[in-house]
Amino acid sequence: MPTPAALKAEILRLTREYSALMHRANRPGTDEAVVFEPGRTSVPYAARVFTEDEVEAAVGATLDFWLTLGPEGAAFEAELAAFLGVKHSLLVNSGSSANLVALSTLTTHKLPTPKRVQPGDEVITVAAGFPTTVAPIIQCGAVPVFIDNDPVTGNARVEQLETAFTAGKTKAVMMAHTLGNPFDLGAVLEFCRRHDLWLIEDNCDALGCTYSLPVARARALGFTENSPDLPADGTHITRYTGTWGDLSTQSFYPPHHLTMGEGGAVNIVHRPPLKTAAESFRDWGRDCWCASGVDNTCGKRFEWQIGELPKGYDHKYIYSHLGYNLKPLDPQAAIGRQQLKKLPAFIAARKRNWETLRAGLADLGDYFEFSLPTHASDWTTAGFSWDASGAHCDPSWFGFMLRVRPSAPFSQTQLARHLESKKIGNRALFGGNLLRQPAFVQLQKDRPQAFRVVGAMPGADELMQRALFLGTFPGLTPTMLDYEIATIRAFVRSK
Ligand SMILES: Cc1ncc(COP(=O)(O)O)c(C=O)c1O
Repeated sequence: MPTPAALKAEILRLTREYSALMHRANRPGTDEAVVFEPGRTSVPYAARVFTEDEVEAAVGATLDFWLTLGPEGAAFEAELAAFLGVKHSLLVNSGSSANLVALSTLTTHKLPTPKRVQPGDEVITVAAGFPTTVAPIIQCGAVPVFIDNDPVTGNARVEQLETAFTAGKTKAVMMAHTLGNPFDLGAVLEFCRRHDLWLIEDNCDALGCTYSLPVARARALGFTENSPDLPADGTHITRYTGTWGDLSTQSFYPPHHLTMGEGGAVNIVHRPPLKTAAESFRDWGRDCWCASGVDNTCGKRFEWQIGELPKGYDHKYIYSHLGYNLKPLDPQAAIGRQQLKKLPAFIAARKRNWETLRAGLADLGDYFEFSLPTHASDWTTAGFSWDASGAHCDPSWFGFMLRVRPSAPFSQTQLARHLESKKIGNRALFGGNLLRQPAFVQLQKDRPQAFRVVGAMPGADELMQRALFLGTFPGLTPTMLDYEIATIRAFVRSK
């Protein structure tokens, strides 16, 4: 009789063999095994990139059949937190859930009243982007206050922050690093410190991006160290995005920098007590913090007296918040652990692919306006030049965004349709100006006080009307990128 361990080893050996044959199209774009036929094979804007390592991990964890978040989850949380250099990372089942947990965390009654986000309090956010960066603010009873986007970076126009601020009402800023381009963290953090506000970074599209502030400015904000493994230059503090705010969020849906199918994380950057509240909102609202399958971590399971419950009521069933259940499964975390090992190579590939597209389209400036990283003033093949702020950043791009000039003899939609007909995946900047989405138009009718808008939103409108983005994901091969460039050039020439 073979032992269970021997059987498992054999299943995993066969799994690897199967995956190596079956999943050739999903391998990194540098892999010789990826076959591409221009015009016949689709070039998606993003997709899962994996090898037999992830498939083996998924099958192994499934055979172990722990199912609920368990040992793989705990290991992934520790590994992600160590990579970023944050106190804790908490796995959830999506980036949207991560945003919901992050904002909910700031509503906990365990915070001092002036810091607690309560119904009617305001949270500053940005008009163009992904809807579930904003939805949790409303779902938690707070009021989003929209500022405009800068169409060049896709990020917030930080000069509008002070106008959006209302003393006694504004409690937090919550915004995304658009398409992997870090927002102006220096200006946003200085604003937050001035008014004692929370910052939630939606880092869903930006895992592995870095932001650098001159040492004196960083120190004044309380930062003295680089993120782990990031080289020091003696003049700047350089940290990953998602490690500058109080809380940050990740998505592990397939287009993102790493995937586990569905999945996300909340990073608790430096204030450990926020972890207990975040965990509570993720895990049914419970007061108990035992991991799944574990009892009596606190050592006084039957000795608590909270609320109006009888003394000694089982701590496992004491609820200090109105929570959710937003946990993923353990096999997802097992996949994520393998992806995490590939993350540095994935990050490098995204940067390389963006550069290839940028260089290949560089002379089409009469038709397109190209994005720039926050703080950059120009791009050449030698690199970016930076503005006078002394800050700079290094995006690991989620996508390659361009804006069709109003003077171009074609529209964004015509270009998008053409690319689609040539099997080249492309996307709008998510929901565009969210205020024009039916959900917000309806909300304005139903509850005009549900959100506030700081002036007109020309930047968000421009992004909605003129921008589209191509993929930069690590599955793109050099031939695919050449095909994309040649197709766009031929389209422009034909007009
Ligand atoms: C900026 C941003 N935040 C949040 C999300 C939501 O992530 P998920 O799809 O995992 O719910 C996305 C989705 O792509 C996103 O782009």
